[in-house]
Amino acid sequence: MKSKKSNLGIGFVGGGFITRFHLRSWVGVRGADVLGIFDLDQKKAAEAAQLARKLKVGQARTYKSITEMVADPAIDAIWICSPNFTRTEVMEEIAEAVMKGKGELIGVTCEKPLGRNVKEARRLVDLARKANLLDGYLENQLFAPAVRRGKEIIWARGASLTGRPYLARAAEEHSGPHSAWFWEGELQGGGVLNDMMCHSVEEARFMLTPPGASRDELKPVKLSAYATCLKWQLPDYVKKLKMISGGQLDYAQRPAEDFARSIIEYEDRKGNILVVETTTSWCYVGAGLRLSLELLGPEYSLQYNTLDSGLKVFFSRQVKGRAGEDLVEKQNAEVGQMPVISCEEFEYGYTGENRHMVESFLEGRRPEENFDDGLNVTELLMAAYMSIEKGKTMTFPPAGLENFIPAVARGQWNPKKQ
Ligand SMILES: NC(=O)c1ccc[n+]([C@@H]2O[C@H](COP(=O)([O-])OP(=O)(O)OC[C@H]3O[C@@H](n4cnc5c(N)ncnc54)[C@H](O)[C@@H]3O)[C@@H](O)[C@H]2O)c1
Repeated sequence: MKSKKSNLGIGFVGGGFITRFHLRSWVGVRGADVLGIFDLDQKKAAEAAQLARKLKVGQARTYKSITEMVADPAIDAIWICSPNFTRTEVMEEIAEAVMKGKGELIGVTCEKPLGRNVKEARRLVDLARKANLLDGYLENQLFAPAVRRGKEIIWARGASLTGRPYLARAAEEHSGPHSAWFWEGELQGGGVLNDMMCHSVEEARFMLTPPGASRDELKPVKLSAYATCLKWQLPDYVKKLKMISGGQLDYAQRPAEDFARSIIEYEDRKGNILVVETTTSWCYVGAGLRLSLELLGPEYSLQYNTLDSGLKVFFSRQVKGRAGEDLVEKQNAEVGQMPVISCEEFEYGYTGENRHMVESFLEGRRPEENFDDGLNVTELLMAAYMSIEKGKTMTFPPAGLENFIPAVARGQWNPKKQ
């Protein structure tokens, strides 16, 4: 049913790094204002609310609890942007507030990953259904203009005349996460595979799916994966992680993978074999975050690399400025020839993603990318961890997937001890 409202009030749970990205994207989003922030850390909440007001994307205020934010009649939808280990408690509080009639919401969206494992992701799907909420899974890369436009052109020209694409390669690499909790397997749910391969598997699956077709057009058939820890178990880097975490992180004994790859074989409805190949790492030291994508078919190909930006700047060694992230996300240097991504929130897909979620909620329909997709991504990632632990190719879905928790998320993975 179409919403009676023409403008939605959005509340964010979590006021950290990703919320700032969403807020910056919101200058390109119509039909919704950011009106609320809840963060356990009141200072972070206040800073995010202030940023929203400064960007003029909404008169955001802060709340003392999620329930208080849901209960505010000005709030129509919630964006879950708190750490992975808070997923179920956050969604439980939202659903309970709605089901007990403390407040009314149209929908909820959730950042990747939907859960640290299949059980958690499925719990989010169930809670959204029980509370009768529309649900959106926040996979920004599906909404990146280059990805959307590239898919449109490849399918309209190459695929329609010479046959469908059969191979998609996607990679996401940078030099390591910004907050300590990402590095801790138990809190995050894994290492780089869980953190970043979620983007690549979904983006590659999206490129191989015909425009407008549903997700079940492609059936995952089998999967193999590999992971290790290349950089962050080296003694100097073990020390570095210990330091940034106040002694909590112990990568000598309890590392998480910083490099992973996977190969997923799909079958389309005609029985054609299609392949997704992904690579991901927290040990890539280049200018900054690098997202790359390739799509190949019988007579065509597509390539995309975010660091091949049109804008480049050069600073001589005399320019001794402060370290920052003003040129590109996860920037590693400030001198020499540097690529600049002029509008990261747009180019990485956050603007398109938020526009889509808002439009869907206003029209009362389920977003194109929703919690079922988040659950499917989690299933693929957990099957990848199973393949790594067993050292073999898994047919999909492997037995035991529902209750599987990777060894890295139990603090029991160490490639040095295998
Ligand atoms: N789409 C992407 O590319 C992308 C990029 C980064 C992060 N993320 C995802 O976004 C989520 C948040 O990551 P981040 O980088 O913003 O982390 P962050 O550490 O920068 O910020 C997290 C914020 O959440 C707050 N918080 C902690 N527990 C909370 C709770 N129970 N309720 C409310 N707030 C709480 C913290 O105080 C902090 O301000 C993660 O799930 C992460 O995987 C997605």
